[in-house]
Order: sequence, then C-alpha cells, then structure tokens
Amino acid sequence: MNLFSFCFSILLKPVYKVYEKILENRVKKRKMPRHIGIIMDGNRRYAEFFGIDPWKGHNKGADKLEEILDWTNELGIDIVTVYAFSTENFKRSKEEVEHIMDLFEKKFKKLAEDEKIHRNKVKVRAIGNLNMLPKNVVDSIKIAEKATENYSDKGLNICIAYGGRIEIVEAVKRIIERGVSPEDITMEMIKDNLYTGDLPDPDLIIRTGGEVRLSNFLLFQSAYSELFFTEIYFPAFRKIDFLRIIREYQMRNRKFGR
Ligand code: FPP
Repeated sequence: MNLFSFCFSILLKPVYKVYEKILENRVKKRKMPRHIGIIMDGNRRYAEFFGIDPWKGHNKGADKLEEILDWTNELGIDIVTVYAFSTENFKRSKEEVEHIMDLFEKKFKKLAEDEKIHRNKVKVRAIGNLNMLPKNVVDSIKIAEKATENYSDKGLNICIAYGGRIEIVEAVKRIIERGVSPEDITMEMIKDNLYTGDLPDPDLIIRTGGEVRLSNFLLFQSAYSELFFTEIYFPAFRKIDFLRIIREYQMRNRKFGR
C-alpha cells in the first residue's frame, strides 16, 4: 500500500463499510470453505512503511489474527491454519526472534483465556517442531491446548517452528519405524501421519505481503487448495480484502484433477 492509497482508504471508510456488509451478505449465501490457511507475511514492511519499530509490525500482525478469527467465525469457517513462524525464521536476528517468541508466549496465554475461543469452542493447536522453541513458549502452548482440548467444533492451528518438507520426511519415518515396507506406503498413510492428519486439507490458502510462493507451508496438504496472493501487508489486511477473496474462491471451479 502506498501513501496515496492509504489516505484514499481513510476517506472512503464509510463507503467501504456499506460495501463490506453487502459483500458479506452475498458470500454468506454461497458455500464457505471449511478450512483456510493463511501465510501472514509483510509485518516488518508494514512497520517500515509507517516508520514504526519493526517489532511493532509483528504485534500488529498478531492483533490482525484475532480480527481474522472474528471474521471466520461470522462467516462459519470452521478451521483456520496460520503460518506464524517457519524453521527458517530462526535465522533472523536474536533480538527479533526473542521478541516474536515473547509475543507467542503472550498470545497463547491470551488464547487460553479468550472468551470468544471458549464461546465458539475453538480447539487451539500448535503445529511444528516444538522442541525448537524456548520453554516459556512451549509452556504457554500447553496451557492453550489444554484449555481447549475438549473442543471440536472449530480449530485454530498455529504453525510455529514449522516446515512442510520436514513434516513429510518425519511422517514417512514414522511409517517406516512401524515396520511398513516401502511398497506398502500409501498417500493416505502419509496424510494421516502429518501434524494435520486429522484435519481436512485447506480449501484455500491466502498469502499476504506480495510474495507469490508457499514457502514450505502445508506442502502435502495444499495439493488441491485454491491459492490467493495479495500485495497487502498482513497487519493492513482488511475484512473487505478477505471477503473479496472468499467471493473469488466461491466463483472458482474446483476440479481436484478431474
Ligand atoms: C512474517 O512477516 C511474519 C512473521 C515471521 C511472524 C508472524 C507472527 C505473528 C503475526 C504473530 C502471531 C501470533 C500468534 C499467537 C500466532 P515478516 O516479518 O516476514 O515481514 P516482511 O515480509 O515484511 O519482512
């Protein structure tokens, strides 16, 4: 987003509110995706654009995720899987990684107590190699998972210390360790042994921030997902942008290779 479009969007706010409502009513009449994936990209560029401390971009991104959960709940989308931190992200500066880890600790604790999470019966799960995370983050993940473990109506999966390729490798290793011979390994077995084994594949995956790639996110699960890429930085992603993506998704003809 440049400065001109930012000022323009402020002026158009009331008009957008009306349009948002019309769009929302329209998409609600059609089939909703059951599971969406989100690659939350562009936090630091958002911070740079607004001349704020780069870490504040991540804080804003975390707040945006809470807003998105309100939208998905209003639309009746059951499962949301977000890419919060990849195994590669550990290569960022020590200072940034520490800030993000502290943010995760805070947010998982908040999720454990969040009234909306409990009202909507959202099962919260962290997906990834949790051994790579500091103890304070693992402890807060456990608190959120424990507080929501009995829910099954909806799911929020947070990919953290996650990598799609290693997820597949680990799944295959688990199958072989159980004594299955290579010729007997099936796609179903691999699917069942992924972190997301009990979840349906994502119907659509959204990436904010302008890059057009999956960056190791849900590689096996995304085989037939509809992909949407938007230039908008994650903290600036608006409900209207989300609704437009849902509208386009509803117009796509999903063929699953047929
Ligand atoms: C990518 O933007 C974002 C991250 C690596 C961190 C994302 C973390 C959050 C949004 C916090 C979420 C909190 C919970 C509880 C899940 P970037 O830093 O790569 O931005 P850039 O592309 O502009 O550099």
